[in-house]
Amino acid sequence: MKRYLLLTLVISFLAGCKTPPPPQETPEEKTARMEWFSQAKLGIFIHWGIYSRGDWSESWAFHNGTVSMEDYFAQEADFTAASYDPAAWVQLIRESGARYTVITSKHHDGFALWDTEAGDVSAVRSSAAGRDVLTPFVEEVRRQGGLRLGLYFSLIDWPREDYPNVFRSGPARYDIHREPERWKHFLEFNSAQLKELQEAYNPDLFWFDGDWEFSSDEWDAPGIVRRLREANPAVIVNSRIAGSGDYDTPELGVPVSRPVSPWWETCMTINDSWGFRKGDTDFKSFDTILRMLVDCMSMGGNLLLDIGPRADGTIPEEEVAVLRELGRWIDSHSEAVYPTRAGIPAGHVQAYTTLNQRGDVLYLYFPYAPNESLEIKGLKSKIQRVRVVGEEKELEWKQYNDIDWSATPGVYYIEVPADVLDPHMTVLAVELDGPATLYEGAGQVISFNE
Ligand code: GLC
Repeated sequence: MKRYLLLTLVISFLAGCKTPPPPQETPEEKTARMEWFSQAKLGIFIHWGIYSRGDWSESWAFHNGTVSMEDYFAQEADFTAASYDPAAWVQLIRESGARYTVITSKHHDGFALWDTEAGDVSAVRSSAAGRDVLTPFVEEVRRQGGLRLGLYFSLIDWPREDYPNVFRSGPARYDIHREPERWKHFLEFNSAQLKELQEAYNPDLFWFDGDWEFSSDEWDAPGIVRRLREANPAVIVNSRIAGSGDYDTPELGVPVSRPVSPWWETCMTINDSWGFRKGDTDFKSFDTILRMLVDCMSMGGNLLLDIGPRADGTIPEEEVAVLRELGRWIDSHSEAVYPTRAGIPAGHVQAYTTLNQRGDVLYLYFPYAPNESLEIKGLKSKIQRVRVVGEEKELEWKQYNDIDWSATPGVYYIEVPADVLDPHMTVLAVELDGPATLYEGAGQVISFNE
């Protein structure tokens, strides 16, 4: 064992002191580790920092040159957290029906929400809040239960002297290949902060951001993930860690086709900003957000929906309203949310779909009133019963042209009377005679030449 350890150390030294990759797992082990995530469906993202005064965008404002670095950091004086009520935040998140939450521990501006002791950095104690605001949030998440904890961590830390890039246009401070010690110093600082977060909060998920500025080797991405997994073998890591992540993270756009990874999440704003912005009133309606959630679910993914509390800790009313409505809808349709999995391909029915775990209940979600009926084509399984989810009602259906000599199953028509329609999204549970089997062909061709 000792010899093996020595050998590993020598190999890592020879490989340019790169740390070895995270422990290998079998596909079954990975599936088990990702289990809660695949069932989570909805997460609430929180962007909170000195930018939450609401005048400028998070971090990008100084990076893009919209505002000077000095003015940007002067916002520390307005980050009061005066009405911050972490218990109410967590209660609201739980009420939304979400199963996890991800909070910005540090954005690209380097402003840390916890009492970091790693390096001389801008942190919450020097702001008007004057206290660690991350710990009470984490404590509430753990105390109230029912939520997994994710910490957003920006790999980028633009203001630091040992971080190469400052402004988008403009020269870098230095070249990491010419000054490897300076870069190493930065990486050690980042690692020290990650260690603090890991040890203090033991999060279920690390949500990295900003990997695009350097390569996997330059960040030592495998080493970062290995250290986190050594400390907590169950930890999950998003994709923005230069190829070492566990799942895909498309941003701001719901995918059209199913992402390649079996685990993914779309991160989405409620208005057009991640952090609170005074002028941004472009709030999406609850119905729009609900469609996005169901769309993600139908392709086996999660929706990570962002809120941007103000600098005083209050959450904009429009966002509170969306979260509450989500909670109400999910509560009355919970069997069609938890635990479901990806549904059938879009061409079969004019609705979003999911399946239950066994695959023998097909859920249909539609945000409109079908005229007369909803049709399902290419469904080889036999329908046994159709129920309206959230109500005690059963619906009638018919199947036309289920011909014994044809490979094409007949088309089902489910009658949908107006009085069963949900004002936001109607859900039907279509109970089948076994796990759903589909016909995906181009129709039966009759040929007399055969
Ligand atoms: C982007 C942005 C950032 C935001 C994040 C959320 O990468 O850099 O401002 O926090 O996406 O997904």
